[in-house]
Amino acid sequence: MSAGAPLLEVDDLRVSFATEDGLVRAVDGVSFTISPGEVLAIVGESGSGKSVMAMTLMGLTRGPNARIAGRATLGAVELVSASERDLQRIRGASIAMVFQDPMSSLNPVYRIGRQIVEQIRVHDRSVSKQEASARAVELLARVGIPHAERRLQSYPHEFSGGMRQRVMIAMALSCSPRLLIADEPTTALDVTVQAQILEELRVLRQQSDAGIILITHDLAVVADIADRVIVMYAGRVVEHGTLDELFYDPQHPYTWGLLGSITRVDRDTSTMLPAIPGMPPSLLRTPQGCHFRPRCPHAFAKCMDVPELSARAPDAPGHLDRCWLEVEQKRKLRVVGDQIGLASSEPVIS
Ligand SMILES: Nc1ncnc2c1ncn2[C@@H]1O[C@H](COP(=O)(O)OP(=O)(O)OP(=O)(O)O)[C@@H](O)[C@H]1O
Ligand code: SF4
Ligand SMILES: [Mg+2]
Repeated sequence: MSAGAPLLEVDDLRVSFATEDGLVRAVDGVSFTISPGEVLAIVGESGSGKSVMAMTLMGLTRGPNARIAGRATLGAVELVSASERDLQRIRGASIAMVFQDPMSSLNPVYRIGRQIVEQIRVHDRSVSKQEASARAVELLARVGIPHAERRLQSYPHEFSGGMRQRVMIAMALSCSPRLLIADEPTTALDVTVQAQILEELRVLRQQSDAGIILITHDLAVVADIADRVIVMYAGRVVEHGTLDELFYDPQHPYTWGLLGSITRVDRDTSTMLPAIPGMPPSLLRTPQGCHFRPRCPHAFAKCMDVPELSARAPDAPGHLDRCWLEVEQKRKLRVVGDQIGLASSEPVIS
């Protein structure tokens, strides 16, 4: 790959599902690129379309009720229109995914060891079963599974949720993918194991220059490992920038709300900000204009029109957001107390 060329280029990806109640617009025009060796974090509340977006890249949302449009180009392959055969070749080799629900991709009737060995050998037949088995033990140990050799003989149901998640991560690492999509890979894990997994992701990107899409609710994990961050709200990207831009100069009120609701250990709980008020909209009936409008304390008449995702801060051309407020207004409005947060008509809770 030529220097600077993106590994993956996603352009105006749209995914909707026809349901009895109407069309669910789960992903509503998402665009981004990811370079080799880069970690792109995707954050946003439950139901914002993060998993549907990721699964669509793997070709896993196709079905009679799904409508998928846009492009996602990985090297020479366009993933949205790729044949099932091409996708099968790509999955696990060029792109690996750690699923939010590990049980959905582990086969309950086969021992863990067999599943990892098969995963390794399906993409490289020159590896013997013994070699693949030794590699499986090494991988399980790397993701923090004790007595790895013995645990190869276990079935998925004999593992806890967190251990299954680690098995999935071991399987994803086994083929040194060019792109790893990890959907909430650390949610079920305690802090020590979480640190171990993040370290493995760092090793993957350093050793094989893999790009990593990390979907997470945990902004501490984002701060720890991401280079760039996308904030999704109701199927759309509302902000996209580098880690520093997102954390130190956030432009979208929804991002302020996310940042304000982090419980920091150094924060005085008597001034803790409220979480974002209200609920995300139904994707069957999204609000007119800015999707965040019904929850936004700063909404004004113009917000009835859809704000484009564009660079608004003159000093940061790569920092994109979807909010009509002027940059200087935003920089004032986001300071609540002495920290970044979403202002509330409710009194600040204690
Ligand atoms: N096959 C489907 N048919 C209809 N609706 C679907 C289908 N798959 C997903 N959805 C809907 O798409 C929306 C986005 O779901 P998605 O799983 O991507 O959310 P998410 O951002 O990953 O949330 P979470 O943080 O809870 O994992 C949800 O409203 C979900 O109900
Ligand atoms: S566009 Fe309007 S409603 Fe949307 S986040 Fe900005 S101020 Fe709030
Ligand atoms: Mg999800």
